[in-house]
Amino acid sequence: MVKVKELYRNAQDYEGQSVRLSGWIRTSRVSKSFGFIELNDGGFFKNAQIVFDESLENFQEVAKYHIATAITVEGTVVYTPDAKQPFEIKASEILLEGASSSDFPLQKKRHTFEYLRTIAHLRPRGNTYSAVFRVRSLAAFAIHKFFQERGFVYVHTPIITGSDAEGAGEMFHVSTLDPKNPPLTEAGDVDYTEDFFGKMANLTVSGQLNAEAYAMAFKDVYTFGPTFRAENSNTARHAAEFWMIEPEIAFADLKDNMKLAEDMLKYVISYVMEEAPEEMAFFNQFVDKTLLERLNFIVNSEFKRVTYTEAVELLEKSGKKFEYPVKWGSDLQTEHERYLTEEIFKMPIFVTDYPKEIKAFYMRQNEDGKTVAAMDCLVPGVGEIIGGSQREERMDVLMDRIKELGLHEEDYWWYLELRKYGGTKHAGYGLGFERLIMYITGMTNIRDVIPFPRTTGNAEF
Ligand code: 4AD
Ligand code: MG
Repeated sequence: MVKVKELYRNAQDYEGQSVRLSGWIRTSRVSKSFGFIELNDGGFFKNAQIVFDESLENFQEVAKYHIATAITVEGTVVYTPDAKQPFEIKASEILLEGASSSDFPLQKKRHTFEYLRTIAHLRPRGNTYSAVFRVRSLAAFAIHKFFQERGFVYVHTPIITGSDAEGAGEMFHVSTLDPKNPPLTEAGDVDYTEDFFGKMANLTVSGQLNAEAYAMAFKDVYTFGPTFRAENSNTARHAAEFWMIEPEIAFADLKDNMKLAEDMLKYVISYVMEEAPEEMAFFNQFVDKTLLERLNFIVNSEFKRVTYTEAVELLEKSGKKFEYPVKWGSDLQTEHERYLTEEIFKMPIFVTDYPKEIKAFYMRQNEDGKTVAAMDCLVPGVGEIIGGSQREERMDVLMDRIKELGLHEEDYWWYLELRKYGGTKHAGYGLGFERLIMYITGMTNIRDVIPFPRTTGNAEF
């Protein structure tokens, strides 16, 4: 069985050869005595053109095959260097593998992304999603490749966990309770402490704390897996279930952390552009006409670095009227982030040293007592794509912060012990995988870069 991708890449070598391939009909045009089928074999973004005529004994049936029909074709390769496609296949036999009915929803016309979301089980068969999910797969591989080449150990951090890594309380509870007959407290309320075989448990919001433990053994580690946030944010860039890449590096500070993040982003973007040129050309043509120019510029430029305090000053000085006013001490809103990266810097930036009040408990306090060694990476079109920091390795400072925030020291006992036994300077970050895919493809809604998105109220498929 030959692959369509292989035929595209080396069409000339196959001239005159007989081949066999299986796939699905994308389009079919038939006249009285001959016809053309665009066949997609699933292994490549582009289709193979199949030419067939009355010499086929089942010509009349083939002529009636609907879009999405699964077939196997035997035929001869004709090299066509001057045509749009470098080859076509003259069919000597076409076998029906799986019929399709005439009402297949993805006919040639263009559909809205909103409509296509309602048929999430069929949409990967159309061009846009076929390109998106191939890029998603390649980018995931590139991430592993990047870290593995640098000697990082891939750690599978738990999905079910007792700790709240962000201390923000946005967790889905995991329950073994019988909803019809739950255990009750003396006051008659449902006793959620019995949730997970006698313990409270949640779906992870981040693997960071576990990754920190492993960084203290392996030095350089990363996790890459699904994470969950029970925030009711119905926006184009939030999902309840999303994938996160979280490296953690020991004997490293915030600068090392930013360098790693920048190198990784450039590596993954370059890898995808090299390995998926057809898909990227498609996005550039149909989704965002400046995409390739922008990505090429980015892989060859240095990301800008700016402190939170400087960023606030720049926003204030800009004179721009924002929906939310900018004020030192408040978190940057999406509109501020986008203005910084799209209008002021016009490229990806790292914003560092945020006020400690708006950041998580584990971030390392700076000398000024007001800010922490945090870094967010913001990119044009998406906003925040990475959040990270140098971690607080000083036991006393960390304990004070946990108390100050009203968190329970006993919930973090093992995390605190990491500081007791050879706890060294270390740092890490979390990259939202879907936001990276949005950035690479130009797609503007997170629902269009997740195969079966889990956003507010959406768990149908
Ligand atoms: O900034 P966040 O919340 O950072 C952490 O979770 C840290 N523990 C990471 C670390 O230092 N190891 O999340 C990191 C990134 C964000 O920058 C964003 O790209 C993505 O995760 N993210 C989301 N993506 C989609 N939907 C959501 N609801 C997201 N929340 C965060
Ligand atoms: Mg963040």
